Amino acid sequence: KQFETPYEAIGGEEMISKLVEAFYKRVAKHPDLTPIFPKDLTETARKQKQFLTQYLGGPALYTKEHGHPMLRARHLPFEITPTRAKAWLSCMNEAMDEIGLSGPLREEFFQRLVLTAHHMVNTPDNST
Ligand code: HEM
Repeated sequence: KQFETPYEAIGGEEMISKLVEAFYKRVAKHPDLTPIFPKDLTETARKQKQFLTQYLGGPALYTKEHGHPMLRARHLPFEITPTRAKAWLSCMNEAMDEIGLSGPLREEFFQRLVLTAHHMVNTPDNST
């Protein structure tokens, strides 16, 4: 199919949903991440599904409900250290394994997330 978006190529709503569920299941247990995330990740996961949908070229669900993502600004209330960025990415890497995402699509998606994650870092590791 021509002009397919990464969102469609990855399997649309169903696969984004599976990925995000697999991801937050790990976030909820990761000792580097639990101190900054809410205990109930339902709403966080709902927003992340909306965000990743538009990040991959699908419908702009996040912006429609919450306005411009301004992701770095929205992360400023939290201490995002290099260690936490690494933990976030490892949870995502494992989530991609769990849902069976592979090939160039996975590599490109993951590399974009690496850049975005590094952009979120706002606190050095040794600050606390
Ligand atoms: C929200 C942590 C990277 C997308 C959040 C929240 C935390 C967090 C603590 C607030 C959760 C809540 O109150 O519900 C982190 C950490 C990261 C990271 C430690 C490591 C670098 C990313 C990346 C993306 C992303 C790479 C996008 C690809 C989002 C979105 C929200 C969010 C869309 C919801 C914003 C909203 O409240 O509307 N993140 N994040 N985050 N994060 Fe991250």
